[in-house]
Amino acid sequence: MTDPQHAVYRHHHMTLCVGDAQEDYDFHTKILDLKSVKKTALYDGTVPIYHLYYGNDMGDESTLITCFPMRQSGRMGRRGSGQITRISLSVPTEALSFWDARLADHGIDAQASERFGEKVLQFSHPCGLDYELVGVADDGRVPHTGGQVDPENGIRGTHGITVSVHDFEGSMDFMESGWNGTQTAEEANHLRYEIGAGGTGTIIDFVREPDLDIGSWTFGEGTVHHCAFQVESLEIQDAVKAHLEGLGYTDVSDRKDRGYFDSVYVRTPGGALFEATVSKADGFLIDEPYETLGHEFQVPPVFDDQKEWIMEYLDKLDYAR
Ligand SMILES: [Fe+2]
Repeated sequence: MTDPQHAVYRHHHMTLCVGDAQEDYDFHTKILDLKSVKKTALYDGTVPIYHLYYGNDMGDESTLITCFPMRQSGRMGRRGSGQITRISLSVPTEALSFWDARLADHGIDAQASERFGEKVLQFSHPCGLDYELVGVADDGRVPHTGGQVDPENGIRGTHGITVSVHDFEGSMDFMESGWNGTQTAEEANHLRYEIGAGGTGTIIDFVREPDLDIGSWTFGEGTVHHCAFQVESLEIQDAVKAHLEGLGYTDVSDRKDRGYFDSVYVRTPGGALFEATVSKADGFLIDEPYETLGHEFQVPPVFDDQKEWIMEYLDKLDYAR
């Protein structure tokens, strides 16, 4: 069995609390041209909140962005330190000019920049979250095909996250002893960690912002909720949890069945919520076939006997737009 200290090896998904459901759906599917691979609802709590998944054709691990549109609930988040504050996605380096023009066509301002020697295009999600596309030369992940964007320009998957912290020390300890991380670069007030074999889809950057107030941890509009990382099996996930608890990171959840994968959450010393995730064998095909994947709303099993009420309650979403 994989040594638990070396078990976490790449991003699995990134989960955001966004604003309006339709606005988020259109942003990810019509502008970024990710595929809708699942439309369901948040499994926690008593009030239904959409959970919208976007990724490549099958929703492979490390291509997934998942969103809770919070506008209907009225719950606002507070951006700040102790949070993931930026989502970075990988595109071919030569596709950056295509994306600059495409974003402009959709009325989105983007700024070209550079960090850790990588060319980046920075812009905002409609709810205000910082997004960027990063030019990556060699990324073998297969983008969404059959959409509006030629696959040769398509988004390959996640590249990295940026976590805002007041100081680096606690996060460095956690990354190095608990999360299979290696510090690979330092630039200005940023530290870069890569996990496992490293490279795109494994990056965690920390930015030191001691004067930034602490952000909120609850489900609230305009914040990143967590970043999930893939582990290979439930047995290894158990070992990762035991390893973290043995180090003294006691804020580790029990395993939660999320329908398409099993999740264990840990509140990291810097404040951001991380997740160790095991995909289920059938993945997103567990409740609908590939041909219609992501087309229809899938009622979470926990709300199975309440479908009518839930569908009545949730804001209508125009999938075809
Ligand atoms: Fe998650």
